[in-house]
Amino acid sequence: MPADGPIGPGEQGTGVAASLGFADKDDVLAKSMEFWNPGKTQFWVESGVPLVIDRREGYFIYDMSGKRLIDVHLNGGTYSLGHRNPEVVRAITAAMAHFDIGNHHFPSMARTALAQALVQSAPAGLTKVVYGSGGGEAIDIALKTARHATQKRKIVSIVKAYHGHTGLAVATGDERFSELFLADRPEEFPHVPFNDLPAMEAALCGRDVAAVIMETIPATYGFPLPEPGYLEAVKALCERYDALYIADEVQTGLMRTGELWGITKHGITPDIMVTGKGISGGMYPIAAVLVSERCAGWLTEDGFGHISTFGGAELGCIAGLKALEICSRPQTRSMVHYIADLVGARLREVQQLYPDWFTGIRQNGVVLGLEFNHPQGAKYVMRHLYAGGVWAIFSTLDPRVLQYKPGILLEPDLAEEMLLRTEVAIGKAWREVSSTREGRAALSAGGQR
Ligand SMILES: Cc1ncc(COP(=O)(O)O)c(C=O)c1O
Repeated sequence: MPADGPIGPGEQGTGVAASLGFADKDDVLAKSMEFWNPGKTQFWVESGVPLVIDRREGYFIYDMSGKRLIDVHLNGGTYSLGHRNPEVVRAITAAMAHFDIGNHHFPSMARTALAQALVQSAPAGLTKVVYGSGGGEAIDIALKTARHATQKRKIVSIVKAYHGHTGLAVATGDERFSELFLADRPEEFPHVPFNDLPAMEAALCGRDVAAVIMETIPATYGFPLPEPGYLEAVKALCERYDALYIADEVQTGLMRTGELWGITKHGITPDIMVTGKGISGGMYPIAAVLVSERCAGWLTEDGFGHISTFGGAELGCIAGLKALEICSRPQTRSMVHYIADLVGARLREVQQLYPDWFTGIRQNGVVLGLEFNHPQGAKYVMRHLYAGGVWAIFSTLDPRVLQYKPGILLEPDLAEEMLLRTEVAIGKAWREVSSTREGRAALSAGGQR
């Protein structure tokens, strides 16, 4: 397949648009502006990514126009196992003959089975599972749990953290999202710079902090890697100052780093661990919080302390059991290691072609951030990738960095095609940036933001 060749039309018109009353893609975009989200719709159209995902299969998504894209965004790992993974689809389809969402008031076979599987998969010491319907809710549960266990209120997170947009979670993250809804609470939610241990110690030493919440690699900030020993030292500070450590594994869990849970690569047993996104293979919204015995007190004191009608929905649990089983297979782990080595090696070759432009590769397994030497560098690359048949997204909180997330079951042939197309797009983006005076200035400035 020529890396720069035309993108196949894919399978046209599934009839879904007509069945939903749309004349064509333009009609969807116009009505999306009118009835759904004008800001988001316009942003993508203006960004050169007028994508309306229609058919999806494995690591391919198809725009309504029929344009085929290799998905290297995977919605943060939601589709790590590929879109509509056949094993997950079979499991959930069969489950629909028996289950629905279930009734969250009562014990349930599906919920308990997934809880047991999660506990057995997790670092020792995490013994109970609480469910949410999405990652943000799960983070809220984790923060509430930490507050209950410590009877303290303060939560420390990193500057440019992203843990979701629900009530408590949003306060741990960037002001862009918390201030919009008057949800910023700097006294209760101090933010400290990533990889800065003195700042972390200063935040914790008053002993008034319930928990530090950390992504194992901060995704939305462009996957800056923790310096060697940083996470371990944060955990040690938590122990010294009686704060809990919450590991947000929403993007780094489920084998994306080459181990089931990224945090275990640091030898850390968190007090609380959160998983979401890929946990149901992208087939049903569900997220889970794993807690230690110390943190599990409220589940006995008042088991109705957190209520969520859709949290732990039974169909989601069945999908989750299958997805967790696939992620845990030794051959899946081998495949991740193989793909990670292949992708890392090939990208380093591409880097040598554009040393003033493609300035960094941040990698842990198939979690990758590609760093470009322009304040908006990843947006240029994203646009050329899109035109060339690959979908990967810039990092919202650091648009120099492209989030590049190959699937954990990616076949080597498709990995090669993805890499060829990526090389071409990086070159085209470099030529575009180099063609303007401002771009040339950024390239020669050495990647300053
Ligand atoms: C690390 C991390 N935590 C939490 C969340 C929130 O998950 P959700 O969007 O399902 O609420 C996200 C979402 O992108 C995330 O990346």
